[in-house]
Amino acid sequence: MGNWKMNGSNSMVKNLIKELFNEGEDIQRASQKNLIDCVVCPPFVYLQQVAELLNQKKDSFLQLGAQNVYCESEGAYTGETSASMLQDVGCRYVIIGHSERRQIFGEENDLIARKFIKAYDTRLIPVLCVGETREERESGSTFDIVRQQLQAVMDLAPIQYFERAIIAYEPVWAIGTGLTATPEQAEEVHGYIRGLVTEYHDIASQVRILYGGSVKANNAADLFSKPNIDGGLIGGASLNSKEFLSICRAALVGV
Ligand code: PGA
Repeated sequence: MGNWKMNGSNSMVKNLIKELFNEGEDIQRASQKNLIDCVVCPPFVYLQQVAELLNQKKDSFLQLGAQNVYCESEGAYTGETSASMLQDVGCRYVIIGHSERRQIFGEENDLIARKFIKAYDTRLIPVLCVGETREERESGSTFDIVRQQLQAVMDLAPIQYFERAIIAYEPVWAIGTGLTATPEQAEEVHGYIRGLVTEYHDIASQVRILYGGSVKANNAADLFSKPNIDGGLIGGASLNSKEFLSICRAALVGV
């Protein structure tokens, strides 16, 4: 899943999608065999444009996601976007509670839980982001933080929602920094997350858990080889078609 964040322009969007289609025929074949789900999350203003570009391609392997959503259905919420609007323009996925939303825009666990529920109830697939800061890791509270972030959602949302939802483990210290968690560090937390969901429901083995934080073409295969890492949430590297497609190929190794 590519998170383009606040990057792009009309022409950049057009070129990137064109390159992904031209260079990604092998991924297209893999997706037709249901071996991979490949998603791009452009900024809101380009969602419609990307949806149209994806519709022009027969059986596009790229699916559409949004980077955020609001928890209410409609009304006086200036600047916000509803889940049904995202549906309307062709989104299938939405990222919820990205650490940039938590840190820069002050989103707290309760709001994130309400967004998660609204997205799910509107038939979108919520991608719930959790992860600790550097200070939290250094003080040994990684598991506590991840548990609190997940628990806030599990307390409000029926646990069955996790059958369709996706969880993304994104250590904040690894996002956009070039510092990647080692495959062992990531696997340890992914295993912990799966264990937490299992405590509530036996669906845990099916829950898809993505790793995010400086995933690149040259480290993706090692990360994805771990049993509890089911894919990636890719920021910077998703803006480059070659990098992004190489990461998709790494996800196919051993599938
Ligand atoms: P990055 O971002 O790959 O640029 O580190 C990941 C993310 O924030 O989703």
